[in-house]
Amino acid sequence: MNNGFGFVNLDMRKKIVAGNWKMNLNFQEAEEIFESIIDLYGDEDSENPIMIICPPYPFLEVGTDLTDELKICIGAQDVSSHSGGAYTGEVSAAMLDSMDVEYCIVGHSERRKHFNESSALIKEKVEQLLENDVCPIFCCGEQLEERQHGKEFEVVKSQISESLFHLSKDEIENLVIAYEPVWAIGTGLTATPDQAEEMHAFIRKLLKEKYDEKVAENMSILYGGSCNVKNAREIFSKPNVDGGLIGGASLSPDDFYHIYKSF
Ligand code: PGA
Repeated sequence: MNNGFGFVNLDMRKKIVAGNWKMNLNFQEAEEIFESIIDLYGDEDSENPIMIICPPYPFLEVGTDLTDELKICIGAQDVSSHSGGAYTGEVSAAMLDSMDVEYCIVGHSERRKHFNESSALIKEKVEQLLENDVCPIFCCGEQLEERQHGKEFEVVKSQISESLFHLSKDEIENLVIAYEPVWAIGTGLTATPDQAEEMHAFIRKLLKEKYDEKVAENMSILYGGSCNVKNAREIFSKPNVDGGLIGGASLSPDDFYHIYKSF
């Protein structure tokens, strides 16, 4: 595609469907869900779209073991901002990397809200992940009142610039962004495909202004927030939407697989 800014290889932009299991399931249930998804996935050999499953920490290893021979990737839901040492209860990016965990959600609105995570802390977590070759899935998104006051673009711009814009071009290329309007998470309220498209296009514009056209065009930007079997196809059909970060619906193997097949 030549859009006046030079040649852009859109093949580089990956389609992704990631499941965020949050703090759900026990070990046996997690194993069953992994097995059911793997059965549905079969011997799929394509890396586009990429399927990522993000279980709670204690179930990561069963995930990496069961998906070892498959193209399915495993991600964590959070990481420490520290590299190691006396931080009881924390899990480092190096630990994730040593377990073949390829992705990690960071900056999820539930962590920003319940654990007071600031943009500065999220920035440190992003750095830890990149230093250890784990791809951050960086979440951003506005609260309902912020949208009602017309502040959604301002909020997303500051979240992205405060936690990501210190990165070099080479670094930011190893990252995935998920736009998750907080009012749509777990509420059954989904952003309309046009609202998602508008924000994704805005994020791409920010990346182009800060970096260049190539970084902007190659960035995978996922939508998250009550994405389900009924709305995934329409949302994913938007040109700036490269897939989804799926919470509730990822706990049903049938639904998750169906969403994965919604491109
Ligand atoms: P939801 O969650 O699909 O249940 O709304 C999405 C998320 O929090 O990543």
